[in-house]
Amino acid sequence: MILKWLIALMAITYTQVEAARILGLIWTFSRSHHIAGSTLLKELAKTGHEVHLLSTYNDNVDIPNFTQELLTGIIVPGDGMSNPNSSVFTMLFDFVPIMNKNVEKFWENEAVQKLIRTKPKYDAVIVLTFFNDFVLALPHYLKAPTIIYSSMSSNPINNKYVANPSLPYATGLAKNGFFARLNFVTLNVVIYVIEAYFLAPLQNRINEKYLPDVPPIEVLNKNVSLVLINSHYAIEGPRPYVPNMVQIGGFHTREVKKLPENLQTYLDSAKDGAILFSMGTNVKLSKNLQRNQLDAIMSGLGKVAPIKVLFKSEIDIPSAPENVLVSNWLPQNDILAHPNLKVFISHGGLAGTTEAVYHGVPMLGIPFFADQKFNIGSMSEVGLAVTLDVDRITEQTFYAALEELLTNPTYSTNAKKRSSLLKNQPVSSLQKAIWWIEHIIEYKGGEHLRNVGMELEWYHLYMVDVMAFFLALILVVLAISFIVIRWVLRILYNICRGKPKKEKKH
Ligand SMILES: *[C@@H]1O[C@H](CO)[C@@H](O)[C@H](O)[C@H]1NC(C)=O
Ligand SMILES: *[C@@H]1O[C@H](CO)[C@@H](O)[C@H](O)[C@H]1NC(C)=O
Ligand SMILES: *[C@@H]1O[C@H](CO)[C@@H](O)[C@H](O)[C@H]1NC(C)=O
Repeated sequence: MILKWLIALMAITYTQVEAARILGLIWTFSRSHHIAGSTLLKELAKTGHEVHLLSTYNDNVDIPNFTQELLTGIIVPGDGMSNPNSSVFTMLFDFVPIMNKNVEKFWENEAVQKLIRTKPKYDAVIVLTFFNDFVLALPHYLKAPTIIYSSMSSNPINNKYVANPSLPYATGLAKNGFFARLNFVTLNVVIYVIEAYFLAPLQNRINEKYLPDVPPIEVLNKNVSLVLINSHYAIEGPRPYVPNMVQIGGFHTREVKKLPENLQTYLDSAKDGAILFSMGTNVKLSKNLQRNQLDAIMSGLGKVAPIKVLFKSEIDIPSAPENVLVSNWLPQNDILAHPNLKVFISHGGLAGTTEAVYHGVPMLGIPFFADQKFNIGSMSEVGLAVTLDVDRITEQTFYAALEELLTNPTYSTNAKKRSSLLKNQPVSSLQKAIWWIEHIIEYKGGEHLRNVGMELEWYHLYMVDVMAFFLALILVVLAISFIVIRWVLRILYNICRGKPKKEKKH
């Protein structure tokens, strides 16, 4: 009885904010970013909040107090983005014109226009950002605190909202020496230049067309209350976080749904184990892999029979070996949770990597672009994954990597340890996310979390001026020492040479 009361009491104190009105804006071309972001908003509705979600994909769910409206017209970036041969520079420059075109497309949506006309009151707006900061104009217009959800780990793109330090903590970077750090700083600068000089000016102009008197993006960026990061120290290298940047990695992996009948039977019958092959939603096998690479993968997979393989592919593969079941859609998280699953072959997107860690499944990582190399790099570093570069795929290399994962038990041991690190928290990542969102609503924006770094220039924050001062000081001291020593030496020299002369005169 007492226990019952305690539980009831805890439930009451846990929900500090009752039925808040929350708007979600998920303007992304990436299905995997959408899935994680919309999961967060659906969970908020399930805890009793009234959620209105505007998104580019439809979830077709029936949850009380959860209304979803479809945003149309978004343009998906082309192949340049996903070609593993493109440098970061090429990727970004292919990307910029499309991101800018998508600004107009966003505002043209009737659902967005209706928000502008009716100006409803919300207690918070949750925005998914990725090179689309112009969306922040909407929470500003609605006068609601802005919460950002980022499908990536902390990086220069999302650090700027809350002055979280961009330092080379990402696994391997600091240890790989000067050039790795130089590369890291260069990437930071490139991203800054792209955002400030290639995206912001045009996005600002279009914003003004739809919302007169809207402040420029650089001002909007500085009024973000909270950044929720889909990462966790079990998945990435430990690194610093300011209090209003919160790690919620794993929040979407906990709920494992029942598998469709055919997949359940297939996996249950895989007594020797099963493998899941999935390159996510952004990598396309028909474009990103060559025919001979796909053939190499298929024959490598054929060799591991009787182990069964679930293979996600948007194209038919008639040459698939008997132990490989090809499907154009697979419920990844639910499959990874199956006890017979032995290896996850993945491109290393953060969502999939998190799911593999959560369920303790070793990975064979074939990274293509964006943060995938980092994610797989971290996993290799902690002994949970084997990395295989795309252009090194042959039947031999692929089979050797797979064989290593299947026969060496340390990968599974490390995966189980990481899984336990991710699960072993004072509250689940999902509860943590909800607590922080409610905290921002309760304190109407959370001004108390805003750190002083928000007011500083980058060279003040990273104390470049102080280091320059010390460097100058050292140079001055060295110069003075040099002059003094030269002066003393000259006097000594003159004394040594001068004395006998004087003596001769006497
Ligand atoms: C829906 O939201 C309203 C308040 O906005 C609340 O009174 C009601 O209980 C919510 N319904 C559910 C099923 O959570
Ligand atoms: C990437 O470069 C390699 C070597 O230059 C080339 O063989 C391959 O076709 C390229 N891949 C793509 C997808 O363009
Ligand atoms: C900053 O956000 C608060 C709500 O958290 C809002 O009241 C204020 O108008 C915003 N300021 C700007 C410049 O967007």
